[in-house]
Amino acid sequence: MNSTEIVSQIKSIIQKQFENESTGHDWFHIERVYNMATFLQKSEGGNLEIIELAALLHDVSDHKFNGGSATLGGDIAFEMLINLNYSSVKAEKVREIINQVSFKGANVEHLTSSIEAKIVQDADRLDAIGAIGIARAFAYGGNKGRPLYDPSIPPVLHDSFDAYKNAKSHTINHFHEKLLLLRRKLNTRTAINIGNERHEFLELFLKNFMNEWNFSQ
Ligand code: ADP
Ligand code: NI
Repeated sequence: MNSTEIVSQIKSIIQKQFENESTGHDWFHIERVYNMATFLQKSEGGNLEIIELAALLHDVSDHKFNGGSATLGGDIAFEMLINLNYSSVKAEKVREIINQVSFKGANVEHLTSSIEAKIVQDADRLDAIGAIGIARAFAYGGNKGRPLYDPSIPPVLHDSFDAYKNAKSHTINHFHEKLLLLRRKLNTRTAINIGNERHEFLELFLKNFMNEWNFSQ
């Protein structure tokens, strides 16, 4: 199977699987990450086929919804590729990327071992900030029944993946616990340039949100 065939097969499987997802991991998120990753590859390099597959498969199993496993996603992606008779060496690369991409807490180190992993991670992170990132955060909070904001609950910068994934807070805290930190965690120059603009929009949003919250005449 050539590169175009495997990518289009995985695309149609994932599109079907994610069409009805409402937790911020809908097909359109995957599609945006895929488009951004291929855009980043043009200036940053890396193997396009591996980047395309990892972008399409990066959320195939999410630790927030799979009982907490950080490695099941990579394993599922690997199996899917092998079942389509894909090369096991390349499928292994895709598995490795998927297991490295996810955000695991403010003070937890996020290692990426290849340019392909750095690009997919950047593309995923760019989709968590800016106007779309804001919309996704409140969609996620609403799905979990969380309040928009509660001034009595301050943010926590988590030291472990366990602490981060078990935290229950309001959505404004998510900005301080993750979204505002992402700019400094972007890997590639091209993503940093895009991220800077999206980050400024997050700050403007928070400023206006707080002004409206504390409105007094
Ligand atoms: P990604 O798909 O970018 O890897 P996640 O799987 O961590 O991101 O989360 C999916 C979306 O939901 C992201 O936009 C993320 O910022 C948002 N999200 C995750 N956890 C929370 C939370 N506790 N509160 C609000 N939004 C969240
Ligand atoms: Ni994602």
